[in-house]
Amino acid sequence: MTVHRLKALALILWLQTIGVCSVVTNLPEVPHGVFNVSTRIEIRGTKHAAWTALTDFPNYPEWNPFVRASIMVSSENATLRDQYPKEGRRLFLRTQIPALPLPVNRQTPDIKANVQYSYENVTHVQRKQGRLAWDFTPDPNLQVDLQSERWSAVSDIGHGKVLYESREVFHGATAEYLKGQIGEALQACFDAQAQALKGLLEQCDK
Ligand SMILES: *[C@@H]1O[C@H](CO)[C@@H](O)[C@H](O)[C@H]1NC(C)=O
Ligand SMILES: *[C@@H]1O[C@H](CO)[C@@H](O)[C@H](O)[C@H]1NC(C)=O
Ligand SMILES: *[C@@H]1O[C@H](CO)[C@@H](O)[C@H](O)[C@H]1NC(C)=O
Repeated sequence: MTVHRLKALALILWLQTIGVCSVVTNLPEVPHGVFNVSTRIEIRGTKHAAWTALTDFPNYPEWNPFVRASIMVSSENATLRDQYPKEGRRLFLRTQIPALPLPVNRQTPDIKANVQYSYENVTHVQRKQGRLAWDFTPDPNLQVDLQSERWSAVSDIGHGKVLYESREVFHGATAEYLKGQIGEALQACFDAQAQALKGLLEQCDK
C-alpha cells in the first residue's frame, strides 16, 4: 500500500517535472550579461500573424508603446526601400522609456524627455524558427563599454495560441550603470510591448 502510494507520488512528481521542463522557450541560450530584461506572453492567434506583426516595422508606430520607430537604414542612415529585416543591416530605433500608456497609434506624440535613439545591427532573421535578433552597436566615438543583444521569438503552442518572447542581455561596464538607471523601466517597456502585441493580434479575431 505505502509502496504503491510512493510509486504513485513518484509518478505524479515525474509528470510534473516533465510538464515544467516542457514549458518551451524558443529563445536561444546566450552568454549571461550584467543584466537582462525579458518578457513572455501567450496570444490567441497564429505564428504567421505574430511573425508578420513582429517584422512589419513600418506598422510599429500604430501599436507599439515602447518602440515608436523601427526603421531599416543604410550605413548613411537613409531609409531603405525594403523594410523587412535582413541580417547584417542597420536598424534605427526610437524608443520611449518608460513606454507610453496604451493604446497608441501613429499620431500619438512622444514624451520628449523619454526619447532614446539607438542603432542596432540585425544579426538573425530566422523566419522558420520565428526568431529575430539584433545587437546594439555603440558609436565608437562615444567610448561607452556597452553591448546588448535582443532576441524575439514567436512559437506555436497549440490550442490556437502563439507564445511571444523577448529578451535583451546587456554586457559591459556601462551596463551596471544602465541597470540602476533604467533597468526597471526597461523591463516594464518589454512587458508593455508584449501586452500591446497581444492587443494587436487578438483585436483581429474579435
Ligand atoms: C536574465 O536574468 C535572470 C534574472 O536575473 C537570470 O536568472 C538569467 O540567467 C539571465 N539570463 C541571461 C541570458 O542573462
Ligand atoms: C536617422 O534616421 C532616422 C529615421 O529617419 C531619423 O529619425 C534620425 O534623426 C536620423 N539620424 C541622424 C543622425 O540623422
Ligand atoms: C552585423 O551583423 C552581421 C551578422 O551577424 C555581422 O556579420 C557584421 O559583422 C555585423 N556588423 C557590425 C558592424 O557589427
